[in-house]
Amino acid sequence: MEKMDFNPLETKAKEIIVRYEEPRAAMLPLLWLAQETFGHISPEGEAWVGEKLGVTIAHVREVVSFYTMFQTKPLGKHHLQVCRSLPCLLQGANGVITQFKERLGIGLGETTLDGKVTLSAVECLCACEMAPMAQISEQYVGPLTPQTLQEVFHHLLEQPDTAFRPPEPDLHIAGGGPVLSRRFKHAEGAWFDAYAADGGYEAAKKALTSMTPAQVIDEVLKSNLRGLGGAGFPTGRKWSFIPKESSKPKFLVVNADEGEPGTFKDRYLLERDPHALIEGMIIAAYAIGSHKAYVYIRGEYVRPHRRFAKAVEEATRHGWLGKNIQGTGFDLEVVIHRGAGAYICGEETALLSSLEGGKGFPKLKPPFPAISGLFKCPTLINNVETLACVGPIIRQGAEWFSKLGTPKQGGTRLFSLCGHVARPGLYEAPVGVSLRELIYTHAGGIREGHRLKAVIPGGISAKVLTAEEIDVKMDFDSLLSAGTMAGSAGVIVMDETTCMVEALRAASHFFADESCGQCSPCREGTGWILKIIDRIRKGAGRPQDLENLLSIAGNMEGKTICVFADAAAWPVQSYITKFRGEFEHHVATGECDLKGPALALRGPGQA
Ligand code: FES
Repeated sequence: MEKMDFNPLETKAKEIIVRYEEPRAAMLPLLWLAQETFGHISPEGEAWVGEKLGVTIAHVREVVSFYTMFQTKPLGKHHLQVCRSLPCLLQGANGVITQFKERLGIGLGETTLDGKVTLSAVECLCACEMAPMAQISEQYVGPLTPQTLQEVFHHLLEQPDTAFRPPEPDLHIAGGGPVLSRRFKHAEGAWFDAYAADGGYEAAKKALTSMTPAQVIDEVLKSNLRGLGGAGFPTGRKWSFIPKESSKPKFLVVNADEGEPGTFKDRYLLERDPHALIEGMIIAAYAIGSHKAYVYIRGEYVRPHRRFAKAVEEATRHGWLGKNIQGTGFDLEVVIHRGAGAYICGEETALLSSLEGGKGFPKLKPPFPAISGLFKCPTLINNVETLACVGPIIRQGAEWFSKLGTPKQGGTRLFSLCGHVARPGLYEAPVGVSLRELIYTHAGGIREGHRLKAVIPGGISAKVLTAEEIDVKMDFDSLLSAGTMAGSAGVIVMDETTCMVEALRAASHFFADESCGQCSPCREGTGWILKIIDRIRKGAGRPQDLENLLSIAGNMEGKTICVFADAAAWPVQSYITKFRGEFEHHVATGECDLKGPALALRGPGQA
């Protein structure tokens, strides 16, 4: 085998390492560099990265094994990754996977004999509006209708050496909304000139030239903006926790590691209005006295990453990033950091562990990141959508923003709607919109000829609601009172054809696959849950299985370092409680009420 020559990578590696406060934080970018150069990360590649960063090979290997996107063996020329999370399953992903296997003549994890295609099944790629969908090398493609599948097969089997340009799907994507989607109309998104012509960067100018940091924080506090990544914590309060005086540098970290199944809002913000995020970052950094921001983008988001990087270049060229922004004396440097496939890195302390060059392990709190975060320095971590609201708040005022929402949560949100609705897509609406209105007015109701059975209102971690429970407002507090949560505002809709055992199996598979393995209740519990549900769906359920599932879930909730275990427990508790009859029927008869589990999650166009 030919020896790998790492010498040509030396200069690039040095350029990458100096961007970080500590060399080992360059772990993921150096691993990406090695993988992109040689197609995979070999033992020599691990040794080279270890030597560059001054860490052991064992540490590098541990990191490589943690992230799903790092490959230790060469893949085929095209890596075809088909999504198998719940929203894609609801639209027929199982059938799509079967077709790929048959046409390519390979199983999951295998490569065709000519080395052209490797086939994998993966968890949610956060493009659930395109369900069923897949990623071919760097491109997202979907919905995989019979016609699109033909195009994919033609490319993979007959023209594998040509570039593949999948058709842009015709989907409902919000546009012209009052806060977040006003510049979403064009798929290419708003470039600097269009953004500036629409009042862009006026808010940053106002903050930097006529407001003190304390006034900015006060305005954000008054706006009632809450953390839209899912936690719902008041944003202004979070900003106020960063110490005003600090002997250490302070950091702003943007959480663009969108990964909650059913959610795809940040992807559109990064692609279609990246300057709105940059402007929010400038204002947030000024408010907390930070001069360095890291943007942690999900590894699979290749196009959003490129688009955002171009916007950073544009903003730098126009004097909105870098040294002495617009002559105000304020500096802000931005580093874009690519993740590598690990849902847990969306949890803020796991994200910091990952950014520091380790496995994405959540950390015990306290200390909280505001005091001891990235590199043990004061750190503010905000989600993309949260920061995109900041410019409009400063430009149009906290009062305007707060009045758009409810008394305790201001503004609008980008609601991702997927599953069995007539018009899956992204909708901007006031945070107090009702779930019924979102489904029936915005998303066109349930697909033709069917009726609503269940809804997950805030991403796959949220407790499920029945068809009778949708007259609820979508703000954080209302959904909490309704026994579930607003989370990421990813709304997954299921009609009467959905088998709830299969739906819970899909959710449980996701959590078992994505547990970081640090805490035993989560590592073991997610595996046990999946094993029992698999037994039930295969017709071999035991009388005590449902009580055992509830007992395991109860012993996971609140018993671990982060809330991942809680998120894995909530679907178990709510699906079994609200659809108990269906689960009992499966256990008692070994069969699905819906004429057999194989048909239960079928999608349009499938028999
Ligand atoms: Fe398939 Fe989200 S992209 S479930």
